[in-house]
Amino acid sequence: MSAKVVKEMTPARTVTLTDGSSGKSASLPVYDGTLGPGVIDVRALYKETGYFTYDPGFMATGSCQSGITFIDGEKGVLLHRGYPIDELAEHSSFLECAYLLLNGDLPNAKAKTDFENTITKHTMVHEQIQLLYRGFRRDSHPMAVMIGVVGALAAFYHEDTNIKNATHRMIASHRLIAKMPTIAAMAYKYSIGQPFMYPRNELNYAENFLHMVFSVPCEEYKLNPIHARAMDRLLILHADHEQNASTSTVRLAGSSGANPYACIAAGIATLWGPAHGGANEAVLKMLREIGDKKRIPEFIKRAKDKDDNFKLMGFGHRVYKNFDPRARVMRETCHEVLSDLGIKDEPLLEIAMELERIALEDDYFVKRKLYPNVDFYSGIILKALGFPTQLFTVLFAVARTVGWVAQWKEMIEDPEQKIGRPRQLYTGSPQRPYVPIGKRG
Ligand code: SDX
Repeated sequence: MSAKVVKEMTPARTVTLTDGSSGKSASLPVYDGTLGPGVIDVRALYKETGYFTYDPGFMATGSCQSGITFIDGEKGVLLHRGYPIDELAEHSSFLECAYLLLNGDLPNAKAKTDFENTITKHTMVHEQIQLLYRGFRRDSHPMAVMIGVVGALAAFYHEDTNIKNATHRMIASHRLIAKMPTIAAMAYKYSIGQPFMYPRNELNYAENFLHMVFSVPCEEYKLNPIHARAMDRLLILHADHEQNASTSTVRLAGSSGANPYACIAAGIATLWGPAHGGANEAVLKMLREIGDKKRIPEFIKRAKDKDDNFKLMGFGHRVYKNFDPRARVMRETCHEVLSDLGIKDEPLLEIAMELERIALEDDYFVKRKLYPNVDFYSGIILKALGFPTQLFTVLFAVARTVGWVAQWKEMIEDPEQKIGRPRQLYTGSPQRPYVPIGKRG
């Protein structure tokens, strides 16, 4: 399947919208995609009826056409360029998935090796980047550091980044994919007062990341293949997810022609929120706060209480009204990693599994189709791999950078691409004259 977006869409049919009061009507084309719901093209609506559409949170709005990821929320299906996420998690590697998301097809052996070598050769950062970390307090949240340092890459790669040039777009994509683990590991090292570790070219992507996080100059980190495989699978599971909040931010920022490194920094900022990527850190905090299976009913009650803004972190999803397929793979990986590491009784996993069991039997959650999402189990695996809780969302950002750059590149190459500029329903004051200060109440 070509990686190009469909040039000209042919309407499958039209729908007519008629305003009963004014009698005005608009005949709107409908386009069908390869899979999933068709879309009503409302671009002519305002011109023909004088109305805008209204969809806070974009619950039912298609912002673009895309061939990268398909989600069927009712069936719990997630495809990347047509390949099911569970098959990619089982058989692929993160860099092979990165190639797939960027280019549209799985690489042959030569293309795979060439891509891996290209990424490897971009893993170092400009030596001056090290100085940026010194501007942060040691106890800064690493997501704040990531926003700052990744945004600063725009200062290092601006004049030579012409986003209209396909080669420049691919180089920027490669640099970001390659440098995110290095920048993330440096954020961690800085927070614990250890020296930065340079990437090592003989290691694969996941191994290199673990090395940069856990090695110290006086002692190499002993690479554990189970850890590395689990890390690589976690990265695959977080790589892309259609038009989620952070990806939509990257697309919107990129639609103005902004520097791609700055766009990714905007994506990191959006991902940080606890309703989005920040949920994996929030899940661990919640499981620790619950502390004992006996307290689960108390938290379930709080989650259902409209006067309590507590939500069951790692549960629910805007699109999935069934099990998040990534959560299934994550739960299996969780058991594998813990048993491979000989961790018999991880209390947080016990609590998580009991919480899942109780919630999935509770009418409140069943009625609202609230299931565990990608963030529910990931933190337990990351904790078992030795990562501090504050680094969980950083890992999500490292993985999601692949999706962000693939979606950004697709947006730039989309012939329909325009600067994003939503409208509104104005509910403020009607026009009124300025009142001099002496005449105000
Ligand atoms: C990610 O978009 C993506 O693809 C995101 C993501 C990706 O890969 O990019 O999948 C990653 O962000 C996963 C989601 C991680 N967030 C959390 O786990 C935080 C907890 N979840 C909720 O905040 C919530 O479920 C959202 C934000 C994920 C989805 O919220 P929606 O779609 O806006 O749904 P909603 O808030 O309107 O909820 C519908 C109802 C409400 O109750 P009623 O008003 O109908 O009575 O369900 C309730 C909500 O109060 N509800 C929850 C709940 N989630 C929704 N009640 C308790 N606990 C929850 N977790």
